[in-house]
Amino acid sequence: MLFKPYELVWDCCCDHGLLGMSLLDTAHARKLVFVDVLANQMRKLESSLREDFPLAKYNWHVRCGDIRNIVVPKINSQLFIIAGVGGDQTVDFINSLSISAADTMFDILICSVHGSYFVRESLIDNGFSLIDEKIILDKNKIYEGIYASRNSGKTIANTGYSMWNWKDQDHQRYWSRLVGHYAQRARNEPEKFRAIVEKYEALKCELLGQLK
Ligand SMILES: C[S@@+](CC[C@H](N)C(=O)[O-])C[C@H]1O[C@@H](n2cnc3c(N)ncnc32)[C@H](O)[C@@H]1O
Repeated sequence: MLFKPYELVWDCCCDHGLLGMSLLDTAHARKLVFVDVLANQMRKLESSLREDFPLAKYNWHVRCGDIRNIVVPKINSQLFIIAGVGGDQTVDFINSLSISAADTMFDILICSVHGSYFVRESLIDNGFSLIDEKIILDKNKIYEGIYASRNSGKTIANTGYSMWNWKDQDHQRYWSRLVGHYAQRARNEPEKFRAIVEKYEALKCELLGQLK
């Protein structure tokens, strides 16, 4: 989904670091910082990076620590990638990065496990706009890729919008799963979840209308 190179890219919650490594390989990042809390894993990652991406040729840094402790540097061309963590954690990270970078523009690429509705709400609340969004099918699981910026962009829809293609059966399956989940939550907390179900129902009507 990335369409431009960055001065600095943060692979947040990097674990094995494969995502960041793929960007080093394609020259999307002048410098890449790998961040995770797992000390052993970070030691392993650092030694494989030394072997496969020698510092004489590539610019990277491995940092063992909590994403919430990152002090965002004042660099305008930087991207934070947050992938493979739950929705609540992702929201927590978006909030802490946004507080740390109150006056700094940065982009963010997110692929959380569940909870994209609330992830999108937190992006909207923190002043992000949309660059691109995609529904991603991987090993029979469905995720949302959300690429957003604190610079200009399109308005973010909390249900997602441009990523939906109602002709695609996987998208229909994903929509049903989301609505089923929020309808179930609405039984116990109607004031929080009923409105979400209604937004997804309205989205479906609009997508069906586009097919006519
Ligand atoms: C499932 S892995 C995701 C790996 C990779 N990003 C991907 O998408 O394949 C989740 C990682 O998040 C890390 N993590 C969880 N909370 C964190 C935090 N507060 N700060 C830094 N890393 C964290 C975990 O240690 C774990 O390695």
